Amino acid sequence: MSIKLSPSILAADYGALRESIKTVEDAGTDYLHIDVMDGGFVPNITVGPPVISCLRGDSGLVFDCHLMINDPDRHIDAFAGAGADIITVHAEAAPHLQRTLSYIRSLGKRAGVALNPATDIGCLKYVLDDLDMILIMTVNPGFGGQKFIPAMVGKVRDTKAMIGDRPIDIQVDGGVTLDNLKAITDAGANVIVAGSAVFRAGDPALAVRRFKGLV
Ligand code: DX5
Ligand code: ZN
Repeated sequence: MSIKLSPSILAADYGALRESIKTVEDAGTDYLHIDVMDGGFVPNITVGPPVISCLRGDSGLVFDCHLMINDPDRHIDAFAGAGADIITVHAEAAPHLQRTLSYIRSLGKRAGVALNPATDIGCLKYVLDDLDMILIMTVNPGFGGQKFIPAMVGKVRDTKAMIGDRPIDIQVDGGVTLDNLKAITDAGANVIVAGSAVFRAGDPALAVRRFKGLV
């Protein structure tokens, strides 16, 4: 199975985002993970559509937008218009999930659902044909640099079994390092978010190549 790497700009220098993104793009990353926080669903506030559209013109990466926001339906059009390629909403924040996912797809975008560590994967059983990616949070959302929750390896395995042969990506996000990468991919994850382990590494380009198994 081929692995996609999605470095999270949450751990990058927000004053030098263009340069940071170019570094990981030149090093061969696949996606760019953009953490959107609203100060409501999670305590922090980060960036929104205007920043995404500024960055869009300079990058050919798949923009993987993780919306940690309440009532995401209000903002789907804005994120799609800003250049998001994947729009991931939290199941805990989107009560009309099937409608939200269908709407994202109707805009020609890939639809993702994120689940907090305590949320059962069973909530996705009846929307599996409406989504392109399941994001298993391996920390509680809101902050970078937290410790990976080991019980989430089993959750990834259970998710893989649940999706069967559907073409659904399994993404993991939070506390992922080169040390726990193998356990996570063996369990079935194929899209790997890494914030601190890439942008806080001494050499982010080398970290990308290591995650990709190139060195
Ligand atoms: C947490 C975010 C993550 C975070 C990951 O709420 O969704 O994407 O940036 O950062 P690390 O890899 O440092 O745990
Ligand atoms: Zn994220």
